[in-house]
Amino acid sequence: MSAAPAVEISSLVKRYDGVTAVDGLSLRVAAGTITAVLGPNGAGKTTTIEICEGFRRPDAGSVRVLGLDPWRDGAALRPRVGVMLQEGAGFYPGARPVELLTHLSRLHADPLDVPMLVARLGLDTLGRAPLRRLSGGERQRVALAAALVGRPEVVFLDEPTAGLDPQARRSTWQLLDELRAAGVTVVLTTHLIDEAERLADHVVIIDAGRVLAEGTPQELTSGVSDDVIRFGGPPRLDVGSLRAALPDTATVREVAPGSYEVTARVDPRLLATLTSWCAANDILAEGLQVGHRSLEDVYLELIGAEGTTR
Ligand SMILES: Nc1ncnc2c1ncn2[C@@H]1O[C@H](COP(=O)(O)OP(=O)(O)OP(=O)(O)O)[C@@H](O)[C@H]1O
Ligand SMILES: [Mg+2]
Repeated sequence: MSAAPAVEISSLVKRYDGVTAVDGLSLRVAAGTITAVLGPNGAGKTTTIEICEGFRRPDAGSVRVLGLDPWRDGAALRPRVGVMLQEGAGFYPGARPVELLTHLSRLHADPLDVPMLVARLGLDTLGRAPLRRLSGGERQRVALAAALVGRPEVVFLDEPTAGLDPQARRSTWQLLDELRAAGVTVVLTTHLIDEAERLADHVVIIDAGRVLAEGTPQELTSGVSDDVIRFGGPPRLDVGSLRAALPDTATVREVAPGSYEVTARVDPRLLATLTSWCAANDILAEGLQVGHRSLEDVYLELIGAEGTTR
């Protein structure tokens, strides 16, 4: 990579009492890209992001944001970095959204246009209600607007679309796409794997304070991994018999009653074997589909269906 990374985390460690929340995590975020950090509850996402924001001090390792140390150089970084905390907008419960954004915009040299931001995030219908009277999703949108209004070079967004309705989520995605096009670096966390897939240039999957896997969504879902064939049929088919008909490395599962998944290196011959087996058993394979494994498949496999490995 030629350009200096916007964010560089090296061997970061953070402990709380007995808990090691971040356990030797390293990460580079290229400038002008969107990075999505995925991981189960308690994986260390918020802790990592809050260290990048300068809110927490690392126990070991180093973090550089725009080449600066967020803990020591907070004053220099603050005007250049936008921050949205998890369950945002706990700030100023009596403030009115537009007034708050106008106030924040005046603290910055080259802010975004407040009426534009207000309209884009659907805040124009909120009138003069103070933050404490807004719904959770409305407060969330105000927090996002507050993170962006200063036209930051880097934004850290901790679950920015949690609790947003589908339309607001879409507007947020569009806004983040536009920011990226304008050269802004975005680091966000999410539990929505389709959001990461749709939005991110780079996806980082973490668990127990470490990076388990990273890459573009394509890199994470292709490579050496098998493909998946999905089809529907009557419940409780004899999956053992289908398994026996297929090559040794294939797996067959009834993932839900009447819903089947074959994982294998798919080639035309394997597909023909599968459909012949269906024909021999008088089964119409409904909605038969051959595809790559989804990012969700990869995620669940890495994390383990049980959830966190901590
Ligand atoms: N202030 C704190 N004091 C003590 N332990 C904490 C504190 N904050 C977080 N932890 C612990 O550190 C670990 C990582 O928490 P963190 O909030 O970073 O996870 P997360 O990945 O953001 O999870 P979520 O998806 O639920 O937001 C958890 O085990 C949590 O209990
Ligand atoms: Mg969190």
